[in-house]
Amino acid sequence: MPNVAVVGTQWGDEGKGKIVDLYTEGADVIARFQGGNNAGHTLVVKGRKTVLHLIPSGILHDNKICIIGNGVVVDPVVFIQEIEELQKGGLFPPNTKLYISEKAHLIMPYHKLLDVAREASSTGKKIGTTGRGIGPAYEDKVARTGIRVCDLYDETRLLEKLRRSLTEKNFLLTGLYSRTPLTADEIAAEYLDYAQKIKPYVADTSMIIDNAMKSGKKILFEGAQGAHLDIDHGTYPYVTSSNTVAGNAACGSGIGPNAINNVVGICKAYTTRVGEGPFPTELTDEIGQQIQRVGQEFGATTGRPRRCGWLDMVLIRQAVRTSGITALAITKMDVLTGLDIIKICVGYKSDSGELTHAVPANIDLLTQYQPVYEELAGWKEDILQARNIADLPANARKYVQRLEELSGARINLVSVGPGREETIILHDPFRD
Ligand code: GDP
Ligand code: IMO
Ligand code: MG
Repeated sequence: MPNVAVVGTQWGDEGKGKIVDLYTEGADVIARFQGGNNAGHTLVVKGRKTVLHLIPSGILHDNKICIIGNGVVVDPVVFIQEIEELQKGGLFPPNTKLYISEKAHLIMPYHKLLDVAREASSTGKKIGTTGRGIGPAYEDKVARTGIRVCDLYDETRLLEKLRRSLTEKNFLLTGLYSRTPLTADEIAAEYLDYAQKIKPYVADTSMIIDNAMKSGKKILFEGAQGAHLDIDHGTYPYVTSSNTVAGNAACGSGIGPNAINNVVGICKAYTTRVGEGPFPTELTDEIGQQIQRVGQEFGATTGRPRRCGWLDMVLIRQAVRTSGITALAITKMDVLTGLDIIKICVGYKSDSGELTHAVPANIDLLTQYQPVYEELAGWKEDILQARNIADLPANARKYVQRLEELSGARINLVSVGPGREETIILHDPFRD
């Protein structure tokens, strides 16, 4: 039974939410494995828009199991809020189960304060984070001082861990960032309250996934962010604090790597980036503004405008390699409608005129590189109603075909609008 991982191939916001919602139809278990509520995954079903930050994008379907894996960092405030909002909107189906790993690390109030204070400080280099405490929470996880979901059910241990953490965090908050100190008792009281609210959802999620696999169920792993925000393989230091590549689907959900059979990379038909960092194909002209306006490129989490540019196949090829992508899903094709010429970056040229097809580890070099473009003719016809590849204008088909050639990965799907049904499906990753 094939299991599928869905990951971003760019700098996030490729449309993972829409595709995970769509692929949930053929899945039984949908698991988030990394990141936290820095993610903003948008689903549009029957014209109704839902933005999820933490809960897997399979939640709108009935009879599914949705999992927040051990690799996710969880802000319990957001988790509780998201459940309440779904319930209020009648969007939490009666037979769908939601579980959160007892091993997941918690985002604590000091993580959020430190994230924001660091970004605001003139001494630190601004990353343009979402300010949700993601980096500081992962730091504590790796430093072995993190507080996990399971710690919420042992009050003595929770207080002890909090006191130990606060010795250091308060020193930073007051001494370095001129903020007021926090008290362990107050945080413990707040988090013990959350503990009761989230208790029905807490489970050994690795075991749940394993049991589901043993009984022939299909698993869909939902990535957050994108390949170039990966802590190892991204444009460091302008990255997020987790591994976003598909390999982490195994680690972040507690199963072995051989359980993942297909990896679908979500690739926007152009490129966007939120926050700081190099972006070789960025367009600061009229065309960039048009893409931003038509594509409504504003962050689903922070509302910040997304920087826009041409599709960069150097980035996509690297994503195919680092995530073992077996197929691509092209999204937001409709946004390119009306452009006379569409450019695809096929390589970079260095200052000395040397051509390269690799993203350099030293991002200062990337900032100096000039993109080398291939130009394709655009199309004028509205493609929102296209449901088969043959419905696309010839030039749109050529664009898709060229992406397939340049990426070396099969195209599984072309998305022509935000709605679930606004999709051209070429292959089903659970079948072939
Ligand atoms: P994610 O973080 O990868 O899930 O992506 P986001 O939800 O942050 O951003 C993608 C945005 O594009 C959302 O507003 C989607 O509703 C929208 N979207 C997804 N696919 C398409 C598409 O094919 N066409 C258009 N016009 N919008 C799309
Ligand atoms: P989804 O899942 C786009 C970016 C931030 C910042 C950097 C580090 O919706 O695709 P962080 O708060 O993670 O420490 O910020 O990463 N970033 C995203 N950009 N989409 C996301 O998620 C992102 N999550 C983080 O803007 O540049
Ligand atoms: Mg997003």
